[in-house]
Amino acid sequence: MGISENMPIVRLTVKDIQAGMALSTEAGWNQVADDWKHFIERGETIGVCDADGRLIASAAALPYDGSFGFVGMVLVTADWRRRGIATRLVDRCMAILRSRNLTPVLDATADGEKVYVNQGFQPQFRFDRWQRESSDIQSVVEITTPEPARLDALLSCDAEAFGARRPALMRDFLARDGSSAITDGADGFAIVRRGRRALQAGPVVATSETGALELMKRLLATTRGTVFIDVPQIWSKIGAWLSDQGFTIQRSFARMALGRSEAFGNPKHLFSVAGPEFG
Ligand SMILES: CC(C)(COP(=O)(O)OP(=O)(O)OC[C@H]1O[C@@H](n2cnc3c(N)ncnc32)[C@H](O)[C@@H]1OP(=O)(O)O)[C@@H](O)C(=O)NCCC(=O)NCCS
Repeated sequence: MGISENMPIVRLTVKDIQAGMALSTEAGWNQVADDWKHFIERGETIGVCDADGRLIASAAALPYDGSFGFVGMVLVTADWRRRGIATRLVDRCMAILRSRNLTPVLDATADGEKVYVNQGFQPQFRFDRWQRESSDIQSVVEITTPEPARLDALLSCDAEAFGARRPALMRDFLARDGSSAITDGADGFAIVRRGRRALQAGPVVATSETGALELMKRLLATTRGTVFIDVPQIWSKIGAWLSDQGFTIQRSFARMALGRSEAFGNPKHLFSVAGPEFG
């Protein structure tokens, strides 16, 4: 038995947000403290500490209202990798979700995918993180928040495209300082929020690629600074437009589900995910 099998898995609380931020920042990720808070308060966030009590690994299980839940924030600090820690943490998250009859789903980095295929996860689709690099300070110049009737439509559009309802997450995004949402009647919407390194645009939901492109144009026109947007690879017109605007692909992810290759929801209406940690 290796040393890492003897290290207890602990449940993280809001007191661990800064330790979590240290892990996500080390990996170069974009999460802010509010993202960790959401996982800790709305899901079950777990971790492993070294002998000095330093958090060296994390993972979170986030139940959604539907048939699946998300596994996010799978992070192991560099000098503790390849000892089975991520596998143990993801196994625990899978058990948490399955005890609620939810299929575990996640968005995998290239490193993560190597771990998850061993655990029975199958790819459903792939998406690219497009990045617009800019030295301007991150800002959204026109903040809009949908009024309650529009918010209900937004939540329904998100649920139809994503495949599960997640009102707490959408409300959390919209309540954050600097977040903005634009809507296209009851047909679609696009949200942008602040991240650690860049503004994160997404989700973007629409009934056609042309409609999604219009939403993205309107949304991105209100932003300054570096922006990330995670777009499924099937949307080639959007990819071509982003490329024309100076966006480049930073990396790619795979949406994976335990034992299931068919996507949830309606992939024809999903033009940008909320972020790989939330789906
Ligand atoms: C991905 C990550 C969480 C893996 O953590 P880990 O604790 O090293 O993973 P494990 O030790 O449980 O790996 C289990 C198995 O997965 C495979 N694996 C893991 N990392 C791998 C890599 N970089 N290359 C090839 N195979 C790999 C191996 O089969 C490994 O078993 P082995 O070491 O006995 O061959 C870690 O590399 C990390 O934090 N990376 C940066 C953040 C990230 O990408 N997180 C994933 C988000 S989806």
